[in-house]
Amino acid sequence: MDDGVHEEPYNVGTLGIGDGIGRVLRNGTAIRLYSKNMNQPEKPTMVNDLIKSRDRVADHGEVFTPDWVVEDMLNLVKDESERIDSRFLEPACGAGNFLAPILQRKLSSATRKYQGREFDIECYSLLGLMCCYGIELLEDNVIECRSRLHSLFVSQLGLDSDSPTALAARAVLDTNIVHGDALSMKLANGQPIEFAEWGYVGKGRFQRRDFRFDVLVQASDFSAEGSLFAELGKQDVFVPIRSYPAMTIVEIGTSSVC
Ligand SMILES: C[S@@+](CC[C@H](N)C(=O)[O-])C[C@H]1O[C@@H](n2cnc3c(N)ncnc32)[C@H](O)[C@@H]1O
Repeated sequence: MDDGVHEEPYNVGTLGIGDGIGRVLRNGTAIRLYSKNMNQPEKPTMVNDLIKSRDRVADHGEVFTPDWVVEDMLNLVKDESERIDSRFLEPACGAGNFLAPILQRKLSSATRKYQGREFDIECYSLLGLMCCYGIELLEDNVIECRSRLHSLFVSQLGLDSDSPTALAARAVLDTNIVHGDALSMKLANGQPIEFAEWGYVGKGRFQRRDFRFDVLVQASDFSAEGSLFAELGKQDVFVPIRSYPAMTIVEIGTSSVC
């Protein structure tokens, strides 16, 4: 029976993501070996879009995920990926190949849901951005990821780059896209990685509480079913290291706490 998978004899590498296995051909094209329940890519992905250099592949495993794989994976969690306040962490985010389409989905949801209410669209779009997190080892990727998400945000909302919401988005990205090591859970400067939990409290005001990443990871183990600590309430295990008074968009954009 033809299961829709076609072997290619000239492959020089494999892009393995669940069902969406693909092969890198000698001519520099990445093709997809697809199964019947997944969409075919509209056009082949070029290898140059997926790697920056052989050294970086060897040293850091830097092979970016093609758009079509990302879209298929996000469609597996479609409702969550479109929910404005669902939180996503891409732990080795590279240039944000997952975060950018996640942000795009959240922005589209905010625009659709608050159609004709510009202020609400800006606030809820900013909340969507606040729910996107990344960790990346290489500084140039960190800069590229932040800048890519910022460009997407301002262009989608039609903002001037020096508008209060654009400045707040910049501060949020500087906070949420972290230059560090997802395995040691430390920043490039050796300090523990911290993440800000943002929330919208209405009338253009946002709250923020900071948590240590290693504590969050441990806490999720503690609250796993059957663990000794499963009976503890969330307030016992998720203890912030810092809390801030509610902030306006202008205050977020100009604050030095980010
Ligand atoms: C395979 S690429 C994937 C990038 C992106 N997630 C994607 O799907 O396109 C892996 C990325 O992880 C980064 N990386 C490798 N080890 C890491 C670590 N311990 N912590 C954070 N980032 C890491 C690399 O610098 C590279 O940008």
